Parts: sequence; C-alpha cells; structure tokens
Amino acid sequence: MTTLAPNLPYPSRLSLRAARAFGWAGALAGLLAAGVAQAAGAPAGFKPDLAKGQALSASCQACHTADGSRGIAANPILAGQHPEYLYKQLVEFKAGKRKNAIMQGFAAMLSDEDMRHVAAFYASKPPVPGFAQNKETVELGQRIWRGGIVAKGVPSCSGCHSPSGAGIPAQYPRITGQHAEYTALQLANFASGERGNNAQMTAIASKMSEAEMKAVADFAAGLR
Ligand code: HEC
Ligand code: HEC
Repeated sequence: MTTLAPNLPYPSRLSLRAARAFGWAGALAGLLAAGVAQAAGAPAGFKPDLAKGQALSASCQACHTADGSRGIAANPILAGQHPEYLYKQLVEFKAGKRKNAIMQGFAAMLSDEDMRHVAAFYASKPPVPGFAQNKETVELGQRIWRGGIVAKGVPSCSGCHSPSGAGIPAQYPRITGQHAEYTALQLANFASGERGNNAQMTAIASKMSEAEMKAVADFAAGLR
C-alpha cells in the first residue's frame, strides 16, 4: 500500500474535490482517499526519532554527506527533501522496484522503522539553494518548467513540483537545489524504464529529448 498514494495522479485531487461537492458518492470517495493516505503514513503512535536517524546515517555519509548536502554529483542531495518521498524511495530500493544495486544493498540493511528515522533525519536538514550553470539553455529550461512542451503533451513541471521547485509534500519531491546531473539522469532513467517506480514521470520523460531533459534539469537546480 505504501506505493499507492505517491502514484495517485493529479486528477485524484480534482475528483476528491468534485466528490465533496456531490453528496454520498463524494463521502465514499473521500473515505477511500483518506484510507489510502493513512496506509501510506506511519503506523499509529509512531514518531520518527532524529537521533536514531542520525546514528543510522553513519552508513550513508560516505556518499550523501553527514547532513545530506552537496557531495559529488552522482549522489543525490537529500537535505530538505520530503520525508515521505525519501521513505518511499528506500522501501522501493529494498524491494527492487526502483533499481539501483548500491542503494538496494544499503536499503536492505534498514528495517521499515529505520527507514522512517533516517528519512526524517535527512529531511530535517535545511536545503541549500543551487544555481543554473548553462546560460545557453536557461530559457528553454524555464519554458519547460513553467509551461511544459505543449506540442509533445509534456505538462509543466511546476504544476506538480511547485513553481519554486520545492515540491509539494508528500507526493511531489523537491527538485530545486539538486545536482542537475542527477536530475537529468533520473529523467533519462524514467524514459528508458530503468527507473520504473512512477508511471507519471515515465510518461512525461519519455516524450522529452536529451537536450530538453538537460535544459530543465539545469534550470531547476537554480530555482527559488
Ligand atoms: C556508495 C554510495 C551510497 C551510499 C553509501 C548510500 N547511497 Fe543513497 N544513493 C546513492 C546513489 C548513487 C543514489 C542514486 C540512485 C539512482 O540513480 O537511482 C542514491 C539514492 C538515494 C535516495 C533517493 C534520493 C532521491 O532523490 O530519489 C535515497 C533516499 C538514499 N539514497 C538514501 C540513502 C541512505 C538512507 C543511505 C544509508 C543507509 C544511503 N543512501 C547510502 C549512493 C549511496
Ligand atoms: C503529474 C505530476 C508531475 C509532473 C507534471 C512532473 N512530475 Fe516529476 N515527479 C512526480 C512524482 C509523483 C515524482 C515522485 C516519483 C517517485 O515517487 O519515485 C516525481 C519525481 C521526479 C524526479 C525524481 C526526483 C528525485 O529526487 O529522484 C525528477 C527529476 C522529476 N520528477 C522531474 C520532473 C520534471 C523536470 C518535470 C517537468 C518536465 C516533472 N517532473 C513533471 C510528478 C510529476
């Protein structure tokens, strides 16, 4: 069930709103949606423990740094990312639903509660702003971020990841401040199917050229 809620498409929110306006069917839809939200959340009474999370992060620091901030570009920045998103990724690495040999090994060492602790720890660290690097592609990147690529049916990134790129908890991850190389790589992996843990992103990325991926990734790194 943990994988269900983050995959809920955009229209689910609209239909929830519509359902509220339409009486008993709405109440039922609302209840179902609430059930999904609860299933994705932590068990009742569970509180993430930041000190435990920090202790667990000892085995992550070599790649993700002690506070989840900028290390080398191959390793994503975790600081300030939504805890629900980080947790989902760890669950899916462990299960092999998001394929990465390194992360599968590290996630395999964590229990479900450990994942929540360490996700909460990295999420609690303040995100650091980044910068766009490539002047030539900033305009294209900005157009895609704000307006999508109409001719190809690519929706605007800002619609889900928010205009500032900070994301919308709990489903839509923060993109701003992330390594542009990592962002572009994830888009390519969604498109090729190598990252197969989100149908929405696969549909979007598979319509984009490599140049478009790189442009929007570079622009998004510097969003405020
Ligand atoms: C040897 C280096 C290495 C170590 C150690 C490591 N990671 Fe990772 N981690 C990576 C790489 C590389 C990726 C990107 C994988 C991909 O491209 O899909 C990643 C991705 C992630 C992601 C997904 C981030 C996102 O934005 O989607 C999370 C969460 C994560 N790691 C948490 C951890 C935690 C928690 C630990 C320690 C228990 C850990 N990692 C240890 C290299 C590492
Ligand atoms: C309909 C909503 C939606 C739209 C529009 C959308 N995204 Fe996403 N995106 C998501 C969701 C949901 C996830 C989380 C996937 C998961 O849980 O693994 C995601 C994940 C990502 C990731 C992975 C982040 C990480 O840390 O690994 C990147 C990169 C990304 N999106 C970039 C984009 C870009 C660039 C655009 C615009 C071209 C875009 N997205 C448009 C919903 C959307």
